[in-house]
Amino acid sequence: MNVNDSEVVASVLVNRGYTVCSEPQTADLILVNTCSIRENAEQRIWGRLAEFRSLKRKNPALMVGVIGCMAERLKEKLIEQEQVVDLVVGPDAYRELPNLVQMVKSGQKGVNVELSREETYAEIEPVRYDSNGVSAFVSIMRGCNNMCAYCVVPYTRGAERSRSSESILNEVRELIKAGYKEVTLLGQNVDSYSEPGCSFAQLLEKVALLSPDMRVRFSTSHPKDMSDKVLHVMAKYRNICKSIHLPAQSGSTRILELMNRTYTREEYLERIKAIRAVLPGCSISTDLIAGFCTETEEDHQQTLSLMREVGYDFAFMFIYSERPNTKAARRYKDDVSEEVKARRLNEIIVLQNELSLKGKQPYIGKTVEVLAEGYSKKSGEKLYGRTTQNQVVVFPKGDNHIGDYVMVAPARCTSATLIAES
Ligand code: 5AD
Ligand code: SF4
Repeated sequence: MNVNDSEVVASVLVNRGYTVCSEPQTADLILVNTCSIRENAEQRIWGRLAEFRSLKRKNPALMVGVIGCMAERLKEKLIEQEQVVDLVVGPDAYRELPNLVQMVKSGQKGVNVELSREETYAEIEPVRYDSNGVSAFVSIMRGCNNMCAYCVVPYTRGAERSRSSESILNEVRELIKAGYKEVTLLGQNVDSYSEPGCSFAQLLEKVALLSPDMRVRFSTSHPKDMSDKVLHVMAKYRNICKSIHLPAQSGSTRILELMNRTYTREEYLERIKAIRAVLPGCSISTDLIAGFCTETEEDHQQTLSLMREVGYDFAFMFIYSERPNTKAARRYKDDVSEEVKARRLNEIIVLQNELSLKGKQPYIGKTVEVLAEGYSKKSGEKLYGRTTQNQVVVFPKGDNHIGDYVMVAPARCTSATLIAES
């Protein structure tokens, strides 16, 4: 989501005559787009700002801005404590950037962290400055109304709002014209996309119908909202990728309730059953948090058993990080020690590696369709891409090009990658 926001920011500035450069040493303006979701994401930014301080010593005209969630959360601290910061701009104020830059040029600080109920940057065409030309993100909504007890997003990104379907479809049409082969529709909670007369299922169908050669993905689904209608639309269109990211967060109903996730373990598993029934062979991934407030060994075992029961193909796994002002920070005690959190996370990771490896076995020796996205990091002779199930495949380049659909027969795998030999 932040990658896509940066593309919107680039667009706002490019329209005013700026160009994107790749080296901070040559920049007149550096914007760091920040994340507040866990404390270590914020810690990294303080380190980056220290680097920019030395660049500014060499080039006093350099302007430095902090944008995104951390700007929203820490406006005062950033302005008061960080001499190096000239601009502080929240996620709903990017249109103001050119004016704020002018303010900095006239010797003031440029600050706007106002949240909006309407802003969706609907008609702004993102400048995809770091793109592979194959795969693109398209935001369909912003903000979140869910109020999970641990999460800072509703505070930093504001209330949920949906972008007009017409502007979404126009953006995808342009991407098709530009030769893109895959779009990922983005929202904190895509299932609650709503426009009068257009639900998320309907939007998904409209996007899928634009071109059979354009793959469609989406993220993130919320277990309490993911409807059978969406599953049936996925089943109906070959170009909608058979992969669902369905964050569970925990396998313990008691913890889920404390987290304010509004579903039980059983209800989550019911959704998994629906996916398996409508979309056999669909991959399922998740987000998991280790060591949430009051989590016992028994709760943790429930998370491990949920993982086994679902057989996730992939997971993002985190240690619980208390975020100021969230319900969890205000009301619960962060009472699981760092050691226990780390040990539980490690157990989750070890199990997920096993499950990821197991999930790849059915593809070995079969032929799968891969959209080639780029050169393999290890070899210029190999390409990598993903299957419809979002499995990464590395394969010999042969006569294929980036952006091609290629039929590949993986011969072996690691827990992260399917590998085809020449
Ligand atoms: N601590 C740890 N992980 C968190 N996430 C969100 N907030 C926190 C937090 N305070 C994780 C959730 C979410 C993902 C985007 O980040 O798993 O789904
Ligand atoms: Fe945060 Fe929950 Fe919203 Fe996701 S659904 S952004 S975890 S509040």
